[in-house]
Amino acid sequence: MPTTDLPLFDDAILADPYPAYHALRTTGAAVHLSRYGVWAVSRHADVAAVLKDPTAFGSEDGIALTPLANEQVLAGTVLASDGARHTALRRVLSQQLAPRAMRGPGGRVAARADHLVAASLESGRFDAVALASDMVCGTVMELMGLPDTDRETLLAGAAATFDVFGPDNQRYQRALPLASRMVEMLHENLTRENVERGTWMGAVFKAVDAGQIAESDAIPLASAYVAASIDTTVLGLASCIVQLARNPAQWEILRRDPIRWSLPAFHEALRLEAPIQGLGRLLNQPADIGGVRLAEGEQVWLLYGSAGRDERRWGYDAHHYSIRRPRPEQHLAFGAGPHLCAGIALAELQARSVLRALAARCTRLHLDSSPVPILHNLLRGYRSAPVTARLAPGPQPRPVRQEGTS
Ligand code: HEM
Repeated sequence: MPTTDLPLFDDAILADPYPAYHALRTTGAAVHLSRYGVWAVSRHADVAAVLKDPTAFGSEDGIALTPLANEQVLAGTVLASDGARHTALRRVLSQQLAPRAMRGPGGRVAARADHLVAASLESGRFDAVALASDMVCGTVMELMGLPDTDRETLLAGAAATFDVFGPDNQRYQRALPLASRMVEMLHENLTRENVERGTWMGAVFKAVDAGQIAESDAIPLASAYVAASIDTTVLGLASCIVQLARNPAQWEILRRDPIRWSLPAFHEALRLEAPIQGLGRLLNQPADIGGVRLAEGEQVWLLYGSAGRDERRWGYDAHHYSIRRPRPEQHLAFGAGPHLCAGIALAELQARSVLRALAARCTRLHLDSSPVPILHNLLRGYRSAPVTARLAPGPQPRPVRQEGTS
């Protein structure tokens, strides 16, 4: 049985997990991580196969690495449910997040991106993470119907929620109270009385009234919306800007035709640096992963971050950023199968809007210093990434007017 005592969640590996992922891919299709009691699945084809077999590999009680997170934090949520219950919860989210549902907020998101990019470029220098964070928080708070005063609780709580999915270490212990505080805040602010009809939460309460879901599902769904939508998109978008600043030839391709290349640029960044590096599944029956036989009741840890670097799938240049790579959107950073990310259209809309606004104004992006990575049990990306922009000659485009601004 392939086994390792690799400390996957220690700082040194979190800072640069790719050598460890390479070792895992080389060792076997499934490798037992003795410190955590789970099987690491690190190759693209195996991660995809597990995600697409929810009968054998369930999400209920299998997403996180501690019983407390599985049985209390995640129990009954869309992410941690299977079968009919998952379908019912997912249907409510899908109506609000489907590509056609983006037609409504699309113009406002593009205007917000244009406005934020214009403001960020006033001094010629900006922080890619701060830009992405302002973009994503503004969008999510508006769509949820949450006041701006809740922003800090939301930001801290959303990141903490993912830390709680990891092993019981210091990061996990620090995160537990922050994640609980966010849920309390959602309970306080998202009541029937103060939720507006046109918001995501308005739609959740409508589904409760129609008998599609229970009243007790409302706040867990709110939590799924905010936890899933914030850090993931902030980290993915900031990583994309960092890659474009590091690779001037790639930026040039995008800048010359942003309509064509913005989405490949975003997906290629997600392939290279998956914002969610791993999540679990529980075996509901014995199963085979690439020739390794696992028993019912075992847990697997799916390494999306490793799948994106798997040379078997992406070739010899798997570690390079190349926006012309064929089908970069086939990465697994959004998952796959029935739990495939419900918010892809919204993440793409925000990324496309920011990249196009940058392309309209800058001829060159340059990193001022090495971006500072975050150390997190699940998430990967940067805490800050200072960028200097060379502005296009001539007058800058006037920012698109945002609704509600003069
Ligand atoms: C770059 C940005 C994003 C990344 C990398 C990402 C990644 C993921 C991944 C990997 C999963 C699958 C989890 C699993 O396999 O169990 C997932 C699920 C999910 N995502 Fe995203 N996500 C992003 C943006 C968003 C946004 C903007 C939303 C909007 C609300 C969102 C909502 C969700 C929801 C609700 C689920 C659970 C789906 C289910 O269990 O059926 N995500 N996401």
